[in-house]
Amino acid sequence: MQPWFNPARELDALVRRVAADLPALGAAFDPQVRPATDLRHGDFQANGVLAAAKAAKANPRDLAGQLLAALQAEGTLAKAGLEAEVAGPGFLNFRLAPAALAAWVAAYPDAEAWRKGASALLGGRKVVIDYPSPNTAKQMHVGHLRPIVIGEAVARLLEFCGARLTRDNHIGDWGTNFGILILAIKRRGFVLDVASPTALEDLEALYKEGSALAKADPAALEAARAELAQLQSGDPGNTALWERSVAVSNAACQRIYDQFGLRTDLILGESFYRDKVDRVYRELAEHGLAEVSDGALVVWHDDTPRYSRHAETKLPFIVRKKDGSSNYASTDLATILHRVEQLGAEEIVYVTDGRQQDHFQQLFLTAAKWFKATGRPLPRLRHVWFGTILGEDGKAIKTKSGDPVRLQSLIDEATAKAFDKVTEKSPDLPEAERRDLIAPRIGVAALRYADLVPSRTMDYRFSWDKMLAFEGNTAPYLLYQAVRVRSVFRNAGLRPGQGEAGATPPETPGEIALARKLLGFSAALDEACSGLLPHILCTYLHDLAGAYSSFYADNKVLVDEPAVRARRLALCARTSALLESGLRLLGIEPLERM
Ligand code: ARG
Repeated sequence: MQPWFNPARELDALVRRVAADLPALGAAFDPQVRPATDLRHGDFQANGVLAAAKAAKANPRDLAGQLLAALQAEGTLAKAGLEAEVAGPGFLNFRLAPAALAAWVAAYPDAEAWRKGASALLGGRKVVIDYPSPNTAKQMHVGHLRPIVIGEAVARLLEFCGARLTRDNHIGDWGTNFGILILAIKRRGFVLDVASPTALEDLEALYKEGSALAKADPAALEAARAELAQLQSGDPGNTALWERSVAVSNAACQRIYDQFGLRTDLILGESFYRDKVDRVYRELAEHGLAEVSDGALVVWHDDTPRYSRHAETKLPFIVRKKDGSSNYASTDLATILHRVEQLGAEEIVYVTDGRQQDHFQQLFLTAAKWFKATGRPLPRLRHVWFGTILGEDGKAIKTKSGDPVRLQSLIDEATAKAFDKVTEKSPDLPEAERRDLIAPRIGVAALRYADLVPSRTMDYRFSWDKMLAFEGNTAPYLLYQAVRVRSVFRNAGLRPGQGEAGATPPETPGEIALARKLLGFSAALDEACSGLLPHILCTYLHDLAGAYSSFYADNKVLVDEPAVRARRLALCARTSALLESGLRLLGIEPLERM
């Protein structure tokens, strides 16, 4: 049989199936199959018998023994190359025989094979991912790093694991700030040139000017309100100014996206939904889900506001403001409906800062009630939130003037620092290659990887030294390891994949450990994809690089014995492909040399 791509999952299903026929366990039994925490005990463990025995007041070791006997009688375990035993108080341990490890390594040689194997996880599910979704008319700053980096990694992960994905950039292009901006543009008679590289900086300066004016002078504030009202009622002049501002902003964002290799399928900003919110108000009111309170249309939730910053004074979800205008909530509700009806979404994933947990909790609760009342199937709704980037001093990072650090200056600084590092390490590489190819690649990769390594819900401290180091769990380290594995083939005059015929199963401890690590990719992918947690993949890649280093230190690859050489070349080729594919999944393009 074709080896299982994801043995932990397949084994779980098998144990479930066999246990269902045992009176003492039955169909409700959860075997809890996991990759083993300690590889000395095997590759996988099933811990579920303990809880089941406790509930049935049975002896756990006896029960585990019964289950094991039934599993062995069924026959699949042996075919999958799995040896099993009862251990401790009633665990089942499973170990893959070396031949089974070799079969996996041979059956899943490259990204295409892994993608096929992993696609069962989401099985063609239609997912819409909402990122990086910045607010317009502002330059991108350090606060935009995480939605770009985490959003792109999560998107690639979802796609790799079998989602039919639509990337929808839900930009904030319909805020009240446009009144002030239009006022300032008009006062100056400023001509917005979309092609000018400083257009967005100019807009930002105008906005600052306008808002200072509005603060100081009530008449100006009134004028800004009037401009906004005109825009909202469709005045052609103001609409043109607004459109041009959004275009300037999108062009500037695109220049940043390009440097991060980010591409979205759609840009449907908040403005797109301005004629779609009435239906939301109507349906919510018709079904008695929303009520007018203090002039605003609101939805109350009895459910405890888990994330609310106002936990003790429960606040309603305001879906239409007192003045009749729409807001973030109404727009997001209309957006869900659009994604379901027009994009066929079965799942929607939102990537934002953790400070929006409150909003998304209320949004999801409202959507659930609304869809139920209207008889629509509710898509799965997930908020992939992240913590804050702190400066090296542990406080929010800011420039000396107190403004947020621009994202472009972070990229430029990372690139400059990467250039110095590579020049120090590999002075013989041509300068043009170091400057134009290697430095920007490593610089952006370092920023990106440092942002992915900590579990996304944690805050982390920004550190140039740490992210650019060639040791530790960093981008330069992994990129360098990937280059080193490739050099094995370059030195042998072979391409990865060549010279594998006649390979025997792994034998030495280093070979076995590396083969098991390679196979562990399927479980790491599974875990990263289920929780939408890219850091699981970072940890995995770092471990894989470590397993390779130990293997390489103790096992000469280009030995004379053909079978040994072939199996070692196969392990090297797989490591090379996996390191590179894994980096790509995170959004990092590997290098040929550095
Ligand atoms: N524009 C928002 C912000 O910058 C993020 C939007 C996230 N997406 C959404 N559908 N609410 O905070």
